[in-house]
Amino acid sequence: MNSVFMDAAVGDDARRKHVYDGQLFVYSPTPSSLAFIEFAKGMLKQAFGSLDPALAQFNMPVEQYAAILAELKPKFIHHPTSKECIRGILSELKCDPMATYFDVPRMRSATSEGYLTSGIAYAFHPHRDTWYSAPMCQINWWIPIYPIQAENAMAFHPHYWGRAVRNGSHEYNYAEWNAVSRKTAAQHIKTDTRKQPHAEEPMELDPQIRLLPPAGGIIIFSAAQMHSTVPNTAGRTRFSIDFRTVHLPDAEARRGAVNVDSACTGTTMGDYLRGSDLAHLPEDLLRAYDLPKDSAPEALTPR
Ligand SMILES: [Fe+2]
Repeated sequence: MNSVFMDAAVGDDARRKHVYDGQLFVYSPTPSSLAFIEFAKGMLKQAFGSLDPALAQFNMPVEQYAAILAELKPKFIHHPTSKECIRGILSELKCDPMATYFDVPRMRSATSEGYLTSGIAYAFHPHRDTWYSAPMCQINWWIPIYPIQAENAMAFHPHYWGRAVRNGSHEYNYAEWNAVSRKTAAQHIKTDTRKQPHAEEPMELDPQIRLLPPAGGIIIFSAAQMHSTVPNTAGRTRFSIDFRTVHLPDAEARRGAVNVDSACTGTTMGDYLRGSDLAHLPEDLLRAYDLPKDSAPEALTPR
């Protein structure tokens, strides 16, 4: 990990290889990413009425705020327009729609001054998505909906690229998480008691990299990157969109980032939809990735 590519004129094959090697990519807004944030802003406006969504947290009790997000976020995730925008972005950034699968997008909110950091607005501690049953070939796409600044961005922690950290991923199974924890997200307002994989040793978070693309700009990174939500001190809630992609031939050939410390089981592979026709990944591939609980190699469970 040593480079940030800006509006790189490389094809998707070369880009994925760089991403698996830990490089970061930033793109200027594309027509579809701009359409996507406009769509998101419209939903936010509707949800918060006359209040500026980035400032609404200062004007209502946190329970009411959490209830608004709990209604808004699932609507955004599952709206057909969201899928269309993702397909547009993938096409604009030269991904093969026959080989590229994506999952439904999430809308994230990072409130300022610790107003709401659990449940529906979970503030992510330093983690790799691969601790959460993502395949090593998963690629993450992250888009700010409004302008961001260093004080309300997300951070990468390059010290941990390719370096193992003792962590709780061996206790995480995606199917189990889906069955129990996700349903209760909105109930966790003051604290979050859901068990998530954390680093289990002191972390060196500096040096860290905070990329600050304009609203609608796109950050692309490996699911194996150590990253976190910056504690927001900007005085404005940060809203962002993220989604993930998997490239079928890479998944079949087990190409991707090197797994240094992810020992979770289960798999998110069942979530991805093909760019061309929204078909799921082949059944045999899903089975091959779906490790049963407690079956991860001992070498990947540093203790
Ligand atoms: Fe993440």
